[in-house]
Amino acid sequence: MVQTTPFLLVLSLALVAPGLSARKSVLTGCWTNDLGSNMTIGNVDESGNFAGSYLTAVKNTPNKIQESPLRGSQNYMNENNEPTFGFTVNWSFSDSITVFTGQYFVDDNGREILKTLWLLRSSVRNIKEDWKATMVGTNTFQRLHSNK
Ligand SMILES: *[C@@H]1O[C@H](CO)[C@@H](O)[C@H](O)[C@H]1NC(C)=O
Ligand SMILES: *[C@@H]1O[C@H](CO)[C@@H](O)[C@H](O)[C@H]1NC(C)=O
Repeated sequence: MVQTTPFLLVLSLALVAPGLSARKSVLTGCWTNDLGSNMTIGNVDESGNFAGSYLTAVKNTPNKIQESPLRGSQNYMNENNEPTFGFTVNWSFSDSITVFTGQYFVDDNGREILKTLWLLRSSVRNIKEDWKATMVGTNTFQRLHSNK
């Protein structure tokens, strides 16, 4: 048992290591949208998972805006490297949640664009108010800094 331990250690490192190497993703970097909200997407791992932060310019609560964490997934299947993705923003300053779904595009002028649709779920007092708890909208993001 003692002798096999180093072997198992090396084996498990070999299995874990590929998961640690982040792929270069077109999503990684800083983005700004049509409302002036900014978000930063970190490295995307081999499975397509990513984390980041969202700084909104708009809110439907009196609370002071705070940068909020986001977590999402990228789909790697698109052959033109214009991937689809989705992420959740866990608002730090309210009891709401937003999910985004979208796709990365390079437009005719060579600009990088994220076309997204979102659902904002607000917390309501009870189940009778459930019908009015969700808002829907669209946002278009552009890359904020050209260095990815
Ligand atoms: C987003 O970033 C731009 C450029 O740095 C900045 O001018 C703007 O104030 C930021 N928006 C928010 C909501 O902080
Ligand atoms: C989600 O937001 C709440 C409130 O700010 C925080 O306590 C929690 O740690 C956040 N969870 C994640 C996964 O970011």
